Amino acid sequence: MCGIVGYIGKREAYPIIIKGLKRLEYRGYDSAGIALYDGNDIKLCKTKGKVAGLEEKIQQEITTDGTLGIGHTRWATHGVPNDINSHPHYSNSGNLVIIHNGIIENYDALKQELIKRGYSFKSDTDTEVLVNLIEDVMKKEHIKLGKAVQVALNQVVGAYAIAVFDKNKPNEIVVARLGSPLAIGVGDDEFFIASDASPFIEYTKNAIYLEDEEMAIVRRGKDVKIRKIKDDSLVDPYMQELKLNLEQIEKGGYEHFMLKEIYEQPRAILDTFRGRLKTDQAIIKMVGVEDNMKKFLNANRIIIVACGTSWHAGLVAEYIFEDLARVPVEVEYASEFRYRNPVITENDIVIAISQSGETADTLAAIKLAKSKGAFVFGVCNVVGSSIARETDAGAYTHAGPEIGVASTKAFTTQITVLTLMALRLARAKGTISSSDYRHHLIELELIPEKVEKALQSDNNVKTIANIYKDAKNCLYLGRGYNFPVALEGALKLKEISYIHAEGYPAAEMKHGPIALIDENMPIVVIATKKGHYEKVVSNIQEIKSRKGKIISVVTEGDTHVKELADHVIEIPETLESLSPLLTTIPLQLLSYHIAVMLGKNVDQPRNLAKSVTVE
Ligand code: M6R
Repeated sequence: MCGIVGYIGKREAYPIIIKGLKRLEYRGYDSAGIALYDGNDIKLCKTKGKVAGLEEKIQQEITTDGTLGIGHTRWATHGVPNDINSHPHYSNSGNLVIIHNGIIENYDALKQELIKRGYSFKSDTDTEVLVNLIEDVMKKEHIKLGKAVQVALNQVVGAYAIAVFDKNKPNEIVVARLGSPLAIGVGDDEFFIASDASPFIEYTKNAIYLEDEEMAIVRRGKDVKIRKIKDDSLVDPYMQELKLNLEQIEKGGYEHFMLKEIYEQPRAILDTFRGRLKTDQAIIKMVGVEDNMKKFLNANRIIIVACGTSWHAGLVAEYIFEDLARVPVEVEYASEFRYRNPVITENDIVIAISQSGETADTLAAIKLAKSKGAFVFGVCNVVGSSIARETDAGAYTHAGPEIGVASTKAFTTQITVLTLMALRLARAKGTISSSDYRHHLIELELIPEKVEKALQSDNNVKTIANIYKDAKNCLYLGRGYNFPVALEGALKLKEISYIHAEGYPAAEMKHGPIALIDENMPIVVIATKKGHYEKVVSNIQEIKSRKGKIISVVTEGDTHVKELADHVIEIPETLESLSPLLTTIPLQLLSYHIAVMLGKNVDQPRNLAKSVTVE
């Protein structure tokens, strides 16, 4: 949940670290800090708040020279966000400096032990315990930093990505990982360290992603050495060539990343089915599915595990897999699944969905499913992420980097991948007729164009946003395939505008939520032509007779709902099964505009982080 960045080489570390922190700020933004080392003095500066605030403080407090540096942007776990709890942290001697992303679960026991041994602590963090544990091991066993990190980490329970250096060793940084991501960018006589590759993309395309339970010593001018934390054995580094480019991680003229990412959806969906959907030959090609077709064909059921927006994409997939491929599907919050002793057999397929590929609960659910013998398939966006590596097979969504904390293009590309999978399986099982199958392929291919059209509702949506921006509550209703879209619409509004919103299956309204409806309640109703249209129209009538304000997402040309609703937003017609890819667009825009009008921080909403690597 935090972002870590480091540099050692021949350049000034400061500009690299500060720019890197800005790129990683999506991972957590309640405090930030930096430590620079010029071989004589360590210059450390940290503060509550964002990286921009850190930059100002640095100008007043420290000089910025030094070719070794580490930096941190924090999402608080242990200890409130304040200057003292911000990273980096010194060890008691002042020789070691550490940054950490993760949680040390047994930190209290370790802390008590260290206190008995004469250590004192300034902060409430688990990280300060870890750096002093490393120092204690160095002193007790008379060993150097690298070895001490390895010994200390064997006493630690929890998750971490750390970078630590020793004042007495100005040419090395030691890094380690368990459960939290860590990439090493390898340049010419220089190394970059970061939670993802974005901080070093303009300097090198060569990266090593540490695996869990691995550590590395990066030495100026030397090769990187990777070791297993458990037994100190050497590991051959696996160097990857990065495909990411700079434009992909910049705003490209948009005011916010979220808006850019909403507008990227036609391209993102196209990229996701490019090379997989071959409409002219009536085939879908997905290597991960093809290679494991036997397992898919013999599966008793599919269990989908995910969190947040990815869980909503899983709910859409439940409809499409059951509808087309006639296989039973259960969709579970990963956080519940992992702790409830679920019944899983070797004939189950578990599909894990995650944009970041780092969500701790989803990762734990995968490990549990694997331990019970299930085949686990990953649907991830971030290439090389922990979930992508932990799963038996998978398919990437090709959304490109999603920086805005509120997921947008991740959602639609996840649905695209899951739709392709369901169609491929349905074809193999013979549960879909060839004409229906072809019809789906043709319609799917038209989706990017139709998303483009749905985006043209932007001005209309902005006008509606202006009318309802001061609402205290909002209901979202949908049926069938669009029930999960209602949930997703409500989540978007909650997380970036802080307006209370609930999503419901439209028919459930009369079982409780209808009591909330009065003339002050805006209700967003998805009422597309092919999705239980008549039933939803009846629900709209029920709202109208209770004076609720109706904002309806309808199929182009609809006149009936227009007469009943206060506002309509038109989207192009498509198959019901593909409609979530279109109905979700105006809901994303609605929450975006409301949040902007309310002056909220759209890309970095309060209390949230993009990558939730703690449970
Ligand atoms: O990276 P993941 O898809 O695993 O993340 C899951 C959720 O944390 C994420 O979808 C979250 O709910 C977003 N903020 C929603 O916009």
